[in-house]
Amino acid sequence: MTLQELKAKCADCTKCPLCEGRTNVVFGTGKEDADIMLIGEGPGENEDIQGKPFVGRSGQLLDKFLAAVGLSREKNVYIANMVKCRPPKNRDPKPEEQDICIDWLREQFKIIRPKIIVCVGRISAQRLISPDFRVTKEHGEFIEKNGVLMMGTYHPAAILRNPNNKEAAFRDWLALRDKIGEMGIEL
Ligand code: URA
Ligand code: SF4
Repeated sequence: MTLQELKAKCADCTKCPLCEGRTNVVFGTGKEDADIMLIGEGPGENEDIQGKPFVGRSGQLLDKFLAAVGLSREKNVYIANMVKCRPPKNRDPKPEEQDICIDWLREQFKIIRPKIIVCVGRISAQRLISPDFRVTKEHGEFIEKNGVLMMGTYHPAAILRNPNNKEAAFRDWLALRDKIGEMGIEL
């Protein structure tokens, strides 16, 4: 199956209750052959309206970080979320919603086969790296899981709430750039 075919199937998904409040399924966006995959939390209001991940204020900050280290969704990154439909009032997606939606993410992963996964924020880091992941303590650390390098970093929304975290977050993106170089990944 191609990513486009998977996206078309996902667009009709009603596997969890989050389907009830959505305007659009936010499947993901970026390069199908990306070596770097970013995984956020879930769509917010703007994402729900436009059907694309990280297009609001958080997304603008994320795009700035990416651009600063030679990355972009147009060129070399794929971006998706833990859940593909907007949770009501932007609440955290529930574990059971994530457990259902993760099947879509797995299928995306199988097609894209990224070498590095960056968990953007606590929600995806706790689900994909470790249940007790603490962003403040473990951000920027790479660990290998099933042959894929994983790193968790600050969610841009958390940085917008607390700009003191911006420098530390930027260092994570610089560490990603270094790791890409170390691994000889051609962007
Ligand atoms: N926050 C996320 O985690 N994902 C988005 O797509 C937008 C905001
Ligand atoms: Fe399906 Fe995921 Fe949307 Fe739930 S959040 S309805 S599992 S696409």
